[in-house]
Amino acid sequence: MNALAGKRIVLGVTGGIAAYKAIEVSRRLVDAGAHVVPIMTDAAQQFIGSTTLSALASEPVQTELWDNATTPIPHTKFGQTADLIVVAPATAKLLAAYRMGYSHDLLTNTLIATRAPVIVCPAMHTEMWEHPSVVDNIDTLRARGVHVVEPESGRLAGGDSGAGRLASPASILAAAERVLGPNDLAGATVVVSAGGTREPIDAVRVVANRSSGKQGYAVAEEAAARGATVTLISTVALPTPHGVTVVPVETAAEMQAAIEERSASSDVIVMAAAVADFRPSSAASGKIKKQDGVPEIVLEPTPDILAGLGANKPAGQVLVGFAAETNDLVANARSKLIRKNLDLIVANDVGADRVGFAHDTNAVTLLRPDAKPVEIDLAAKRDVARAVINTIVEIRASTQTGKD
Ligand code: CTP
Repeated sequence: MNALAGKRIVLGVTGGIAAYKAIEVSRRLVDAGAHVVPIMTDAAQQFIGSTTLSALASEPVQTELWDNATTPIPHTKFGQTADLIVVAPATAKLLAAYRMGYSHDLLTNTLIATRAPVIVCPAMHTEMWEHPSVVDNIDTLRARGVHVVEPESGRLAGGDSGAGRLASPASILAAAERVLGPNDLAGATVVVSAGGTREPIDAVRVVANRSSGKQGYAVAEEAAARGATVTLISTVALPTPHGVTVVPVETAAEMQAAIEERSASSDVIVMAAAVADFRPSSAASGKIKKQDGVPEIVLEPTPDILAGLGANKPAGQVLVGFAAETNDLVANARSKLIRKNLDLIVANDVGADRVGFAHDTNAVTLLRPDAKPVEIDLAAKRDVARAVINTIVEIRASTQTGKD
């Protein structure tokens, strides 16, 4: 189950142009299984209609501090029953009022009347975001434990561009997961590799494979949501998961260098990348022309990055490999697990329907050296990632307590 399922989340929407994105945030929270209680300020209603948000949240939008006979003091009820409050977008005015405890409407009252964690997602023009008063308010709120999802740089209202654009709904969701999640990888340094390597034949052609990188990105995203510091060594350009540092690479050699540089200081390494086993032994510097005839491409083996990591594994590090198999899944994967000195291997049958490369779903078997295989039925790659991270957390707990 994901960290948001069954949680009661107050979604506060204030009056900025980014208010329309709150609808997507609400939809995604509901999709994740949360119960979304929407509150809009008067100004927010200048930007979006409350009907749209009511339709997509879990209950009708609340706007009034003095409501009706059924809920005489709504702000205390919403504040006390919330598991989390997310304000997206949060205007400069909201940040100032929240900082000062100036509770003039339902949203600010709810913020003051809660003990639940609060995430604010500011959005405003760059000049406002950089103004000392806003900087000061953000610093104070942070110091009080309020979580801030910083705005991104990009196009702003009125044709301007710069820092101040509301963070993406995916980043806001990730922050919510991080706040409500078990945080069981807090303090851990995790390196994940993702995507297929591309080995040059000449200046334009490569030897590549079908890996989309989606499963590796999902593992990185889940690890970050569980509190880890995550570096993703990637050959693909998928959206960067919230809180993850991406290091772009292309070839097996570049991937090896990027991982080995970090391996000694990593608590967990997950090799989800599809590393080419062979590469052209030399790449032509220009483009090979077809009038020169069919080229003969001589291949040589690439270094096995994972086997190298396994041979030099520091004590306490959890090393995870992937195995894409088309037959004898468990036997083949188990032999790689042992041969490469891994703690866990995630095996998938790439021949099966909706499994593996390019799909958004996956079905895998998790194998550990001295445990029975665990099958994870067809599920979203993020759910598979959760199962992988759960197992990594278990392995870390068993090595830390000295038992298996
Ligand atoms: N891997 C690696 N470096 C390589 C090749 C693979 O680090 N040069 C890693 C992959 O990231 C993955 C695991 O090893 O985690 C997959 O192993 P695989 O390529 O299937 O192993 P092989 O032993 O080469 O298997 P096969 O016999 O199927 O080719």
